[in-house]
Amino acid sequence: MQMEGLRSVIVRTDTAGYPVEIARGAVRHVAERMAAAGLRPTSVAIICDTAVESSAAAAVDRSLRDAGIPVARIAMNASEDMKTLGTLGDLCERMLADGIDRAGAVVAVGGGVVGDVAGFAAATYMRGIACVQVPTTLLAMVDAAVGGKTAVNLARPDGSLAKNIIGSFAQPILVICDPESLATLPTRELRSGLAECVKHAVIADPEMLAWIAERIDPILAHDPATLAELVERNVRIKADVVGADEREQGRRAVLNLGHTFAHAIEALLHDECTHGEAVAIGTLAACRLAVELGLGTPDAEHAVRSALQQIGLPTAIPSPRSVAALIEAMGSDKKKQGGTLRLVVPFALGDVRLIRDVPDPALDAAWRSVGAR
Ligand code: GLY
Repeated sequence: MQMEGLRSVIVRTDTAGYPVEIARGAVRHVAERMAAAGLRPTSVAIICDTAVESSAAAAVDRSLRDAGIPVARIAMNASEDMKTLGTLGDLCERMLADGIDRAGAVVAVGGGVVGDVAGFAAATYMRGIACVQVPTTLLAMVDAAVGGKTAVNLARPDGSLAKNIIGSFAQPILVICDPESLATLPTRELRSGLAECVKHAVIADPEMLAWIAERIDPILAHDPATLAELVERNVRIKADVVGADEREQGRRAVLNLGHTFAHAIEALLHDECTHGEAVAIGTLAACRLAVELGLGTPDAEHAVRSALQQIGLPTAIPSPRSVAALIEAMGSDKKKQGGTLRLVVPFALGDVRLIRDVPDPALDAAWRSVGAR
């Protein structure tokens, strides 16, 4: 089977330059794409989500074996609570047992959880070996797999989860996105990925809101050509931001639009929302916050609300929570960042900025606009 219509976006940072390749059938050509990127590992650990072990990971496995590369396949349950030091240790022990050495590579096949933990394993095993990301969710293709953030979580003394608290910036050698891998992705997960696309649109590509709304039927029908275009458009945005600020010293923070709100929603509503759904609600709340502070106009809020409705993403938290509890939950981010709550808000569509010291009445109004009480 051939690979169709290769699209390539180059990510250029201070420390690396690598292609994000998007093509139908690409998972069956991973070995040849790695060779084209100059990567010829002596052996490969495929670290994959059990959900894609017999599909995308099996295709990657076949491609590598056909090229004569020894493969160890390690499947993991890809839930957020598996992003632990324990999992990292288990993966590295398996890699050691399977004879992966310094000239070997990790190929991560799955969504954001697998990409984060496998990426961190690659970044730390034998002080760092090559990593190829093969994301199989829309969210991972347009966001998590691009930009080199790798990490695991830790538990706080009160039992809550400190997300991504041990990790590193470690850019992959290559990212391969096959829109055919999304064919079996549940619609809810596809919509969750679209929330990050809405976020990107607000940051840098306002026309994409209408573009997505006009194509929502083929997108939700998993049409590979439309998905390939969507992924490329979003990867270009992410690559631009990461290229300007690899280690999040400045500009890269704009990618956190909606995320401080989203983390509070996820902390309080646990399994009621996917990450993408929380980001959708959080992005809308950030739009309202800008209006409350007199920094933005209502246009952005209207455009985002309308896009979320057309996509079928939530515009309010799924069950009521108090504003006080949600603001308190945002405070964990506050502590992390030295006592100052830093939030990204849209001054206009395509113009988002980081602000500090947000007064509680404005936060209160923003939360109420998305269903808090
Ligand atoms: N997902 C946000 C970032 O990569 O910076």
